[in-house]
Amino acid sequence: MIPMEKLGIGIIGAGRIGRIHAINLYRFFPEVEIVGIADIDLDRAMQLSREIDNKKVFDDPTALINHPDVHAILICSSTDTHTDLIIKAAKAEKDIFCEKPIALDIELIDEALTAVEESNVKLFVGFNRRFDPNFKKARELVLSGKIGKPHILKITSRDPEPPPIEYVKVSGGIFADMTIHDFDMARYLLNDEIVEVYATGNVLIDEKIMEYDDVDTAITVLKFRGGSMGVIDNSRKAVYGYDQRIEIFGSDGMISVNNKLEDETMIANSRSFQISKPLYFFLERYQEAYLNEMKEFVSSIINNSNPPVSGMDGKIAILIAEAAKKSLKERKPIKLEYQ
Ligand SMILES: NC(=O)c1ccc[n+]([C@@H]2O[C@H](COP(=O)([O-])OP(=O)(O)OC[C@H]3O[C@@H](n4cnc5c(N)ncnc54)[C@H](O)[C@@H]3O)[C@@H](O)[C@H]2O)c1
Repeated sequence: MIPMEKLGIGIIGAGRIGRIHAINLYRFFPEVEIVGIADIDLDRAMQLSREIDNKKVFDDPTALINHPDVHAILICSSTDTHTDLIIKAAKAEKDIFCEKPIALDIELIDEALTAVEESNVKLFVGFNRRFDPNFKKARELVLSGKIGKPHILKITSRDPEPPPIEYVKVSGGIFADMTIHDFDMARYLLNDEIVEVYATGNVLIDEKIMEYDDVDTAITVLKFRGGSMGVIDNSRKAVYGYDQRIEIFGSDGMISVNNKLEDETMIANSRSFQISKPLYFFLERYQEAYLNEMKEFVSSIINNSNPPVSGMDGKIAILIAEAAKKSLKERKPIKLEYQ
C-alpha cells in the first residue's frame, strides 16, 4: 500500500533492536510518522516513547497493526512472536519489516510467507549486514569480476560476550541465532547458493551452554553451487571486542574487509605499533548499516519496489542453520536441497 502523505509506521518490540530502528526513523526520516510502539512490557514501550517525542504506546500489538494510520509494521519483538505478527500484519494489508530470524521452524516460516504472498504485501527481513557499505562494496567487486572467479570465502564473526543464559534457552542455538547472519552474508557476498554444510563446534566458554544442547565456538565449512568454498568461524566471546572480518580470495586477487575500530589513531614506539580495539558490539559496529537498512525499507514502500532482502532469503538462512545443526550432531556434511 503506497501512502499519500507521510508513511505511518508501527513498531512492535521496544527492546535493543526496536530502539535502534525507532530512533533512526524518528531522527532521519521526515517522510515517516511513527504511529506507535507496542510492547507487552508497557514500561519498556513508554521508556522508548519518551526518547521519540512521546509517541503513542500500545500493550497489544494487534491494536497497533490494525490502526488505520499504520501503513507498515516493524516486527522487533522476540523471535517466537514473529510469524504470528507477520500473519496478522499481512491480513491487515500492512507492509512488513521483520527482524531475523523469521522463525526457528520451517513450517511456521512457510505459513507466514504464504500469508504475505496471499495479501501481496512487502516483507523485508532484517539482515542488516548487507547494508554495511564495506560489505556491499565487497559484493560489488566480486560481481564485477575484479578478483576473477571466487575460490575461498572466509568470515570471522565473534561476539564480545555470550548472551545471557535465558536468551540461549530460546535463541534456537548458535547457528540460528548468530551464524544466521554469516550464512546470509556468504550468499550475499558470492551471489551464490550454499549446497553443502559441514559444522563442528565445542563449548569452550561457558559450560552452562552445554545444558541447552548448544555450543559457543563453531566452525562451519560451506560449499557453493558454483564451486567456491567458504569457512565461517564463530565465537561467543572475543576478549578484544566484536570481531567482524571477511576475506574473499579468487583466481585474480583477494578482497578483505577489516574491523571498524573505536578510533583511527595509531601510536608507534620502539616496541610496537598500537591501534584501538574494534567497536564493542553490533549496535555500535552496524550503526550505519541499520540506518541504510531502514532507508531501503522505506524506499521500497514509497517507490513500490521489491525489498532487497526477501522472505525467501529469511527462509534459506534458517534451512542452512538447520543443516549446520544437523551436521554438528551427526558429524558429517549435510547437503541442502531447498531448491
Ligand atoms: N538484526 C540484528 O542485528 C539483530 C540484533 C539483535 C536482535 N535481533 C532480533 O530482533 C529480535 C528482538 O531482539 P532484541 O535483542 O531487541 O530483544 P529484546 O529482548 O531486547 O527485546 C524484545 C522486546 O520484545 C517484547 N515482546 C516480546 N513479546 C512481545 C509481543 N508478543 N508483542 C510485543 N512485544 C513483545 C519484549 O517485551 C521486549 O521488550 C529477535 O528476533 C532478535 O533475533 C536482530
